[in-house]
Amino acid sequence: MPVDGRLAEFKVCSQACSLISRSGSLDRSVMPEIALQLTTGDAFEFLASLAPKSVDLIISSPPYFMGKEYDSSIKLEDFVDAHRKLLPLVTAALKDGGSICWQVGHHVHDGVSVPLDALVYVTFSSTGVLYHRNRIIWTFGHGAHARRRFSGRHESISWFTKGHSYYFDLDATRVPQKYPGKKGYKGPKKGQLTGHPLGKNPSDVWEIPNVKAHHVEKTAHPCQFPVALAQRLTRALCPPGGLVVDPFMGSGTSGVAAVLEGRAFSGCDRDERYVRIARERLEALGNGSLRYRPLDQPIYVPGPNSAVAKRPPHFTVTEAS
Ligand SMILES: C[S@@+](CC[C@H](N)C(=O)[O-])C[C@H]1O[C@@H](n2cnc3c(N)ncnc32)[C@H](O)[C@@H]1O
Repeated sequence: MPVDGRLAEFKVCSQACSLISRSGSLDRSVMPEIALQLTTGDAFEFLASLAPKSVDLIISSPPYFMGKEYDSSIKLEDFVDAHRKLLPLVTAALKDGGSICWQVGHHVHDGVSVPLDALVYVTFSSTGVLYHRNRIIWTFGHGAHARRRFSGRHESISWFTKGHSYYFDLDATRVPQKYPGKKGYKGPKKGQLTGHPLGKNPSDVWEIPNVKAHHVEKTAHPCQFPVALAQRLTRALCPPGGLVVDPFMGSGTSGVAAVLEGRAFSGCDRDERYVRIARERLEALGNGSLRYRPLDQPIYVPGPNSAVAKRPPHFTVTEAS
């Protein structure tokens, strides 16, 4: 991984935890490098402890609040109740113009699929403080194979802003055009290049491999999201040097993305094992040994001569699967 001077100097240590004062503001005079705070505890208490209007961006993937996996009852009301409780806490902590990105999937029980982002939308929009800007579809190539419905290959990120005047740096997230040499064929721009020199808007559909067993970012945490996902959100929605918060940080992926992008990070998880993983990942990032998939790495396509791309003779389906 390329390590620039800023990251080489970056340290995660108990001192770093004190860099975000109890008021939540950053004390850059103590250490000019990136400030970090990792908390073991309850997300609701953690959010309540943040100074009002101190956070630029909240990125999180909450648990489904539906009891243990072996609990067969679907408790969607628990999910909604938890989000009703979260709403005043996240809105109080966010700066005016700050953003919240909430990553969820579907809850599937007995083959019935509930899109959880629909519940998030209804709950978070209910007070008229948070405004929905995008439902970003995160699509990936691998997952469970369904037999009685189409296999699920996407989850989503619901992006809300606090208020109508908000930070959004599109240029920081532009991607190369498919046809950069395209020219207008009529009207005042006839014969002129039509693309933006910095690249195109990445759109609201993002293909980023999910963190499965052989992914370079895989840790012992069971449901990580990829660094690249949080990285693009951070670039676009948090000003350089601003503060990113993840109240359900798991393995600390949002923290890794924040540090890569030169933003401060404060995260919480109630499970000490995951906080330890997050700390180890950030330490590895600091010393240049963390492996992560770069945001601009193309999706792997096996070559026609590779063994996995060859169709066994008895396979009869001709469409790619
Ligand atoms: C979906 S995972 C987040 C994974 C994370 N995005 C990553 O990339 O590793 C949700 C996390 O929330 C934590 N959690 C669940 N309930 C919590 C609570 N009340 N307070 C704090 N953390 C909680 C779980 O331990 C779990 O690690």
